[in-house]
Amino acid sequence: MVTGPSTAPDPMPRFPDGFLWGVSTSAHQIEGAADLRERSVWDAFAERPGRIKDGSTAAVACDHYHRYREDVALLAGLGVDAYRFSVSWPRVNSPGGLDFYDRLVDEVCAAGVRPVPTLFHWDLPLGLDWLERDTAARFAGHVSAVADRLGDRVGTWITLNEPAEHTLLGHALGVHAPGRELLFDALPAAHHQLLAHGLAVRALRAAGARDIGIANSHGPVWPASEAPADREAAGFYDLLLNRLFSDPVLTGRYPEGLAELMPGDAEADLAVIGAPLDWYGVNYYAPALIGAPDGTGSDLGGVRVPAGLPFSVREIEGRPRTDFGWPVVPEGLTETLTGLRDRYGASLPPVLVTENGCSYDGLDDQDRIAYLDGHLRALHRALEAGVDTRGYFVWSLLDNFEWAEGYARRFGLVHVDFTTQTRTPKASYAWLRTVIADQHRR
Ligand code: NOJ
Repeated sequence: MVTGPSTAPDPMPRFPDGFLWGVSTSAHQIEGAADLRERSVWDAFAERPGRIKDGSTAAVACDHYHRYREDVALLAGLGVDAYRFSVSWPRVNSPGGLDFYDRLVDEVCAAGVRPVPTLFHWDLPLGLDWLERDTAARFAGHVSAVADRLGDRVGTWITLNEPAEHTLLGHALGVHAPGRELLFDALPAAHHQLLAHGLAVRALRAAGARDIGIANSHGPVWPASEAPADREAAGFYDLLLNRLFSDPVLTGRYPEGLAELMPGDAEADLAVIGAPLDWYGVNYYAPALIGAPDGTGSDLGGVRVPAGLPFSVREIEGRPRTDFGWPVVPEGLTETLTGLRDRYGASLPPVLVTENGCSYDGLDDQDRIAYLDGHLRALHRALEAGVDTRGYFVWSLLDNFEWAEGYARRFGLVHVDFTTQTRTPKASYAWLRTVIADQHRR
C-alpha cells in the first residue's frame, strides 16, 4: 500500500515527571451567590451603567457556590493534578464564608486534586482601597484567617493575581473596578499590593506554609521598529508590565527611578516585598507590539489606551486571533519564560504557568485545541532551554464572567449555558484529558 505524507501532528513531547497539570478559575468570575457575601468593588462597578459590555453582573455567574460538586467532578474527569481557584475576601468576611471553602477544599482533595488557592483575585471588599496603605495589613489578616482554616489541607498558595492588570486596568485606565482613571497616580495601588504580597508571605510562613508563589502576568514586549523612540516606548511598557511587579518580588528592588515615586518608606517595604518565594507564577496570553506615542490613543486587547501616555499599542499582524481579538503567538510563551530566566537568573525560583488560554465560541473548539497545543509545545521548548518550569494551568475550567466583557468571552474547557447552568464539556476538554492521561502514563 502506498501511503502519502502523514498529516498527523507530531506527538506531544514528554514533560518531566511530576509536572503539574491544572486548570484555573477565580471566585468572582464563577461563584455567584452574591447574596451570601459582602459586596466587592466589582459588584459596585458592574452596577454602573455601561461598565460591563453586555450589561451583566457576576451576581449568579456559574452559580459555582451551589454547584461546586458538579464542577469538581468535571475537574476529576479531566484528570488534572491541581486546581487553582480563588478565595473571595468579601465572602470570607461574611458568616459561613470560610465554610464554603472548607467544603470546596474537602471536595477537591477527595477527588485526588491538589487545591491551589489564590488569596486575592481582584474582588476587593467594597470600602477598602489599594490607595490606602492599611489595606495591605488588612489583607494579611484575611490571609491568616484563610490559612488557619484551610492550612491543614492546602500546601500551595498564591498571594495575588495579576496586580499589574488590577493596577493598570482598575486604577490607571478605569476599565476595571474600582474604575479609577489615575494614570501614573495609580502607582501607590501597585506599591500597596506589593506590600500586601510581602505581608501575606510572612503570614503564610507563620502559619507553616512551605509552597508559596504569586501569579504575575508577563509577555514579550516587542518594539514596533528599531527606531530609538519605539525602543524607548517598548522599554517603558516592559517596565510597567514585566518589571514593576517582578523586580521587587524577585530581587527586593524597584526598577530604576520607581522607588522615588512610591508612597511611604518604599525602601523599608522592599525588605518585606522581596521575601523568598518557593515558585513564581506566570500568566501568559500574548505579546505586545509597542511604539512611540502617536497622539491618537490605541487599543490594548480590547481596552482603549488614551493618547498622552508615553507609548502606543500597535497591532501584531499576520497572526490568527482569538474571539477577543488577541493574537495567537505560542512562541511568545517560550520567549517569556527564557526572558525571565535571563533577566533574573538565580533569583527566579521554579516557575508555574498559572494561566494560559483563549476565548472562542462553540463546543467544537478546534481553535482552542490548536492554541493550547501550540502553547504546550512552546512551554516544552522553554524546558529544553533550561527554564525550570513545573506546571501549566489552563484558563479556564468553565466559561465565566470575563470582567468588563461580561459573559461574551468564553475561555472555558467546559461550556456553561448561563440560563440553565448546564455544563457541557467542549472538544478541548476531551483533548486535554487525553494529553494529561498520556503524560501520566509515560
Ligand atoms: C487574567 C485574569 O487573571 C483572569 O481573571 C482573566 O479572566 C483572564 N486573564 C482572561 O482575560
